[in-house]
Amino acid sequence: MEINSADFVIGVASPAQLPTSTQPEVAFVGRSNVGKSSLINLVLGRRRLARTSGSPGKTREFNFYLVNEAFHLVDLPGLGYARVSRADRTRWARHIRSYLQSRQTLCLVFHLIDSRHSLMEADDELLDLYRNGEVPVVVVLTKADKLSGNERKKAQQRVKTDLLARGLELPLVLASSLRKEGRDEILDWIGVSIAGAP
Ligand code: GTP
Ligand code: MG
Repeated sequence: MEINSADFVIGVASPAQLPTSTQPEVAFVGRSNVGKSSLINLVLGRRRLARTSGSPGKTREFNFYLVNEAFHLVDLPGLGYARVSRADRTRWARHIRSYLQSRQTLCLVFHLIDSRHSLMEADDELLDLYRNGEVPVVVVLTKADKLSGNERKKAQQRVKTDLLARGLELPLVLASSLRKEGRDEILDWIGVSIAGAP
């Protein structure tokens, strides 16, 4: 799939404000600072469309990008950012869960995990949602540039094992926004999901 156009549409702070839409939607979720916004920029071929930051907690809204005038990419706030209050963290997690569970137009979720770390508590809070298999999920291992060839294999194996231990068998993609790696594979997954969307 090729990206011909990509524009920011809207940022909303709660599920109640989500735009009504009939176009298929692809969401990027994962822990704070894992590289969601950077990956969206890589996928869209735009350096600064989605705001990124060296400090966690940059994305505070559900940010919608209209792509090829045909579908939305949604950049979500990070999960589990330790510096925000527990109440805020819980509220965000609830918003994200509710979005993943009830958004009718959602046709694909990219769940991002730092390739150096594997699954953490904040990931676990969402994994049970994926078990019912309603929306396809692809796991992306981010910041792969930080790993050597051997470590890359080990990281993939570790995450695969950790997911299997939770009863999940999900496709894995190794990505690096820094080295522009993983883009084609991610676009292929998007292409397939958009084509299959009602
Ligand atoms: P929140 O919006 O806070 O949840 O973070 P995010 O998941 O959107 O992460 P973001 O894209 O803002 O990136 C966080 C930090 O990781 C930034 O300092 C990025 O430069 C860095 N980063 C993102 N992707 C990569 C990557 O592929 N490799 C390396 N080495 N660093 C990366
Ligand atoms: Mg972000």
